[in-house]
Order: sequence, then structure tokens, then C-alpha cells
Amino acid sequence: MDTEPLLAGSPDRYTSSVASSSTADFGEAEEFLRQFHAEQPRRPVPFTERLGQVVAEIDATGTYRHTSEELAFGARVAWRNSSRCIGRAYWNSLRVVDRRDVTTPEEIHRHLCDHLRQATNAGRIRPVISIFAPDTPGRPAARVWNAQLIKYAGYRQQDGTVLGDAASLDFTDVVRKLGWQAPQGPFDVLPLVIEAAGDKPQVFELPSDLIRQVPITHPDHPQIADLALRWYAVPAISNMRLRIGGIDYPLAPFNGWYMGTEIGARNLVDEDRFNLLPTVAECLGLDTSSETTLWRDRALVELNVAVLHSFTAAGVTISDHHTESRLFLSHLAREERNGRTVSADWSWIVPPISGGITPVFHRYYDQIEQRPNFYLDDEARARSLGQCPHTH
Ligand code: ARG
Repeated sequence: MDTEPLLAGSPDRYTSSVASSSTADFGEAEEFLRQFHAEQPRRPVPFTERLGQVVAEIDATGTYRHTSEELAFGARVAWRNSSRCIGRAYWNSLRVVDRRDVTTPEEIHRHLCDHLRQATNAGRIRPVISIFAPDTPGRPAARVWNAQLIKYAGYRQQDGTVLGDAASLDFTDVVRKLGWQAPQGPFDVLPLVIEAAGDKPQVFELPSDLIRQVPITHPDHPQIADLALRWYAVPAISNMRLRIGGIDYPLAPFNGWYMGTEIGARNLVDEDRFNLLPTVAECLGLDTSSETTLWRDRALVELNVAVLHSFTAAGVTISDHHTESRLFLSHLAREERNGRTVSADWSWIVPPISGGITPVFHRYYDQIEQRPNFYLDDEARARSLGQCPHTH
């Protein structure tokens, strides 16, 4: 193998390689391999030799195949580099499941089910990523149209109000047009829409025994249970593209466990989600006659108490924003001791309740783009919103 040209002397390749979107970028490949070999020393194949292999492979085929070690490292570092995520302390323990050889929608469905099984782990949630085949020249990768593997449907009703998750209104229409028989309840788990390599999308139900859900109860206000609220155990993002060393993996669903505020301060509360604050306030008998009673804030805190209490009582992993904030700052300090910069987006890191009483509030963060990373591109966003050519 010719290991001579170390790319630095051939800048023309960097530009020519980005002309076609699915041709692997030499510059990014080299940058990634360099990082991999620096952080994971004592590889069986030295850096220069591996780079030579990859360059030859890209020259011959327009792309290259990551070794399983590169893939696992790349996925973990992509998490480490996710500037919006407060829960990155465990980046190095991410379970990486290599599904690059899976192609048919049926097999993809089976492995997505398996992902949920591994992630749910009877309630002791494990962070998992399943990585399916990447985009390659002339062959687009499979995709899942859902924004998350598990998410609730949303329905516009006759009177203009929304039943279920308003964030899912458009996507729910899409799956209904694809033939899904909607139960039309407030917490209907959407089926998966799987689009294999350039084919028409297919709809698959998730077996209900794989969808762990938690009924919401409150330790001191039993009437909260009468609202019949619930949330699912595993947040598994399925519409972000994982990019490692110039290779795009558009289907690489990943999950962690919930931080309570995601559910108790956003999903159940945002006006364009379940919009439940007035309902919760009424249930608690709060005085809603004036903003100055702070009924919204009081309802919000009690709902968050209920979420944390319910998950814990059900034996499902969840964490609170105080603990996560402290963990994030120790992660940041540890990364800095290791000579690395932690990029963070303040507006995403600071929790949506009690910001100022968490330590992450009281400082600024570096914000730089670091690779590998996860990206939400317009194409994926359009599919999740139901704006795809196949259905319009
Ligand atoms: N915020 C999203 C949700 O509420 C999930 C994002 C990922 N969250 C996580 N804890 N890993 O569904």
C-alpha cells in the first residue's frame, strides 16, 4: 500500500471531493483518522497506513468503510461534541450497534425493535446507537421519517383544538395517508415509517410490549393521576444524520434517558405540545385569576415533581436537572483536563425551569463546530413534518 501522499500536499482533492454530496471528503476522513489514532493509541494498523488504505478506497470507490472501532469511536465522539446535550458525561459508555449490513425495511424494523429492547433494558435505560448503512455514491441510504422511534400522534379536532402531541400534527397526517389506522387517543404511539434505499416508504407498527410507558402520578396530590397522563421511557432521536470522517449515516437512531424537565417542563407544557398547564392548575385547585398568583409556575413545579416521582416509582431511569447540571460541569472540567474543549449552547444546556439555581446558568461556554457530530438537515426535517415528495 502506498502511504506516501498525506493529503496535505493535494488540496485540489479536498475541493473536488465535496462536489458530489455522497462522495467521501478526503479532508474530513484524514482529520477523523488523525483524531482516532491520537485518542486511541496502539492501533494494530498505524495512522499512516490506515490513511493510505482509506485514500486508496476513496479513490477507487468514492467512499470508504469505517472499521468497527472507528465507527464506535466516531459515534461516541459525535455525542461528546453535541453542544446542545447536557448529558454528555457518559459519552464513552455509549453502546454502539453496527447495523451497516442491514438493508430491507423488514430487517430495519426488526433491528429498530431490538434497539428499543436494548435501550429500555426493563427500565434501567442504556444509551444506545444503532448505525445503519451510510450514503454511498449512487446509493442513498435508508431513512426513518419519524423524528423519534417513539412519539405520540397529534390530531386536529373539529373544534380546532388538538388531541395528543401538537408537534406531531403534520407527521400524523402523513402516516394516515400511508394507511395507518389512527386510534385517535391522546397518547397513541406513532408507527415507524421506513424508507429503504430510494424505495417507497413503508409503515410498521411497534409491538406494544417494546414501548415502556410511565403513568404520571403525584406523591402528594392523588388527583393528578385522574388526568391519565403518561410518557414513554426512551427518547430515541431517529432523524439526525451522524457524520463521521466525511461519511454520512442518515439512519443512526440514538437514545439516552430522560431528564425530567424535558417531559414536565416542555413536552407536556409547551403551548405547541400538550399545553397542559391550565389543566394541571385546575386539577390542583390553584387560583388562576391573575398572573401574580404564579399559578403557572406552581403547576409547573408540581408537574415536574410528578414526572420524577412517577418514573422512579416505575423503575425507569430518569434524572433531575440539578444533578445533570452538576454532572455536566464536572464533565466539562474533566474534558478540559484532557486537553479538549467542550462546545456548549447555553440556551439548550440551561434547564427550562429553575435555570438560575442550577450552576450551568452562571457562565458562558465555547461554541464551536466539532466533528464528528449529529446534524438535523432540511431533508430529514421535511420528512418528519410530512413535506416529502412521496406524499405530496
Ligand atoms: N427533548 C426530547 C424529548 O423530550 C428528547 C431529546 C433527547 N433527550 C435525552 N434525554 N436524550 O423527547
